[in-house]
Amino acid sequence: MIRPLIAGNWKMNAGGAEGRALAEAVGAGAAEAASHCDLLVCPPAVILAAVADALAGSPVAVGGQDCHEAASGAHTGDLAAAMLAEAGASFVIVGHSERRADHAESDALVRAKAAAAHGAGLIAIICIGETEAQRDAGETLAVLSGQIAGSIPDGANAANTVIAYEPVWAIGTGRTPTADEVAEAHAHIRERIKGGIARSEEARLLYGGSVNPKNAGELLAVANVNGALVGGASLEAASFLEIARQAPS
Ligand code: 13P
Repeated sequence: MIRPLIAGNWKMNAGGAEGRALAEAVGAGAAEAASHCDLLVCPPAVILAAVADALAGSPVAVGGQDCHEAASGAHTGDLAAAMLAEAGASFVIVGHSERRADHAESDALVRAKAAAAHGAGLIAIICIGETEAQRDAGETLAVLSGQIAGSIPDGANAANTVIAYEPVWAIGTGRTPTADEVAEAHAHIRERIKGGIARSEEARLLYGGSVNPKNAGELLAVANVNGALVGGASLEAASFLEIARQAPS
């Protein structure tokens, strides 16, 4: 049994006092969920250190939402993985579809960012997923294969790498794939990460895209789903913790 990971991606929300209060509320309510799953919040970088302070001593880990592929240098506005680690992060999301779309991030760049994360001792959450047009064209599994082949760096293993399957059309839309479609995608991912991720059978595969307290139980029960990457529903402590409560134990 792989211990589930329930991760909240706050995206560009809750960057100030609201985020600190959210972190405190998640930390205060985490004990029950943390008995059977790992918990993670990924706040905006400007409050990552404050959130890490607020959650010190709690079972909730903290992660960044992105990092640069270089260790340091002239990259105005970017953050090195080691800076996130120093601020209190133990995870970082890379290759989220919003970064792939907004910043034209390629698989090769995502791979370099994941390698940088590993170099800084962070666990990389590598995001993959098809667009609606790709699903409609019957290309979903081929798209996932390509992203897996291109985005996983050398040295990836079940301890330092998590894969998040996030269908682009399910993000923020209230729409989700059926349980059968999630099962098909996750079985395919489990198969395709053999060779790319050492001890791939133990690697955590998250589902993300419109996870909420109503659908979490069904989605988290799907074979090869080892947790969730939650956007909108992670912005309220109660709904985030309710999702975590439904993770299989
Ligand atoms: P929503 O849960 O808001 O659909 O976002 C999912 C996501 O993109 C998490 O990274």
